Amino acid sequence: MSELHKVYIETYGCQMNLADTEVILGVLWNKGYQVTKNQNEADIILLNTCSIRDNAEQRIYGRLGNLKKQKNKKPELVVGILGCMAERLRKNLIGSKGVVDLVVGPDEYRRITELIDEVYNGGKGIGVKLSRTETYDDIIPFREDGISAWLSVMRGCDKFCTFCVVPFTRGRERSRSLDSIVNEIKLLSQRGFREVTLLGQNVNSYLDNGRDFADLLAAAAVVDKLIRIRFTTSHPQDLSDKLLYTIAEHPNICNYIHLPVQSGSNRILELMNRTYTVEHYLELIEKSRKIIPGVSFSTDIIAGFPSETYEDHLMTIDVMNKVRYDGAYMFKYSPREGTKAHKMENDVTEEMKSKRLTEIIDLQQKISFEINQSTIGKEEIVLVEGYSKKSDAFMSGRTDTNKVLIFPAIDGILPGDYVKTVINSATSATLFGKYVETVNPVKDKIQLTA
Ligand code: 5AD
Ligand code: SF4
Repeated sequence: MSELHKVYIETYGCQMNLADTEVILGVLWNKGYQVTKNQNEADIILLNTCSIRDNAEQRIYGRLGNLKKQKNKKPELVVGILGCMAERLRKNLIGSKGVVDLVVGPDEYRRITELIDEVYNGGKGIGVKLSRTETYDDIIPFREDGISAWLSVMRGCDKFCTFCVVPFTRGRERSRSLDSIVNEIKLLSQRGFREVTLLGQNVNSYLDNGRDFADLLAAAAVVDKLIRIRFTTSHPQDLSDKLLYTIAEHPNICNYIHLPVQSGSNRILELMNRTYTVEHYLELIEKSRKIIPGVSFSTDIIAGFPSETYEDHLMTIDVMNKVRYDGAYMFKYSPREGTKAHKMENDVTEEMKSKRLTEIIDLQQKISFEINQSTIGKEEIVLVEGYSKKSDAFMSGRTDTNKVLIFPAIDGILPGDYVKTVINSATSATLFGKYVETVNPVKDKIQLTA
């Protein structure tokens, strides 16, 4: 009687999880389940979870505590843990906080309805096998109409950075077929989407029958020149010249690269198994800036990896000053069971980690502010995404370098339009501008990239 079942899902963690949620809902929808945004009317509540740091998992445990109250009132409610935490903790999660009935890892979503049936038959539903081949190639994700879409092009990770749990929770690297990705972009184009972000833990390792990530980007870019193509995440080891030239060549591939550095110290990079040196990383940045004028970079940084000294930390500060990232995601090191770093002594105190992280965040804010201030008076083309969160009198869009830009709403301008704006003020997080004119990047032969 699955037709009667209403599913509510919450997504935690990275963009891969957002894309996976759409795949999961696609599978459920195909089997006649209904999707609801109101958890009070749901028969099944699913949490698509993240294990990357301990605080991500603690949030989920907190949420399970609340769900227990709901389940006390409604004992037939089914609660499921999906994603990385399901894979990491497996059957240990069953009965966690007295509420979990269903545990489904990232490669078992095809079987989710079967596993839900097991719960309805009085058992527990557990599916946690990892696969070397699953890419959900043929599953049509459940997506609402909109401007931007996520699209996973590969799954898993083979890099085994010593701090990272992902290779254990998401398994080995495998790529989805180039043709099926291109077909999906065609469908998105027909539905009026204007931006597609190609996702993978390590997209530069993409490989489908001799076709690499640069080939995929080029094929994606020509589907619809009004669609902007973004991608994440890149690993410094595999960012090839061919890829850089492909980004430069196609006006609708965004001039924005997320290139995690993690640390500025070669000794720490080696302990992290990152396979590059700071010198190599900086050369890569310099080369990218030559090949793609105006390209912007963001990064990930970890403060307080085992044995990190104050000098190592200063080297991270130094690399930030040299690169001048447009943005950064910054974290305190969190030991994850099963990883190599977990066996190293977690010897940087919590207090030191906090202090170093604060210095890193303060510096990044200052740099982002300065970079954004330097755009004042300049023109930028933005893809309009919708109205500003605070007021319908303002619209919000993004520049190709991934900066949010707010401008006063203009009659007739709709989400999905490309508009030229002139910037008149800026904070470290947002640009503010004024509408100049609407552009058709293809007809006007204007580069989508500034
Ligand atoms: N502790 C802190 N940060 C981590 N990341 C991955 N694993 C850990 C960990 N154990 C960060 C890295 C990675 C990003 C997705 O999360 O910076 O690039
Ligand atoms: Fe984790 Fe490293 Fe793979 Fe990124 S590249 S998912 S940090 S192991």
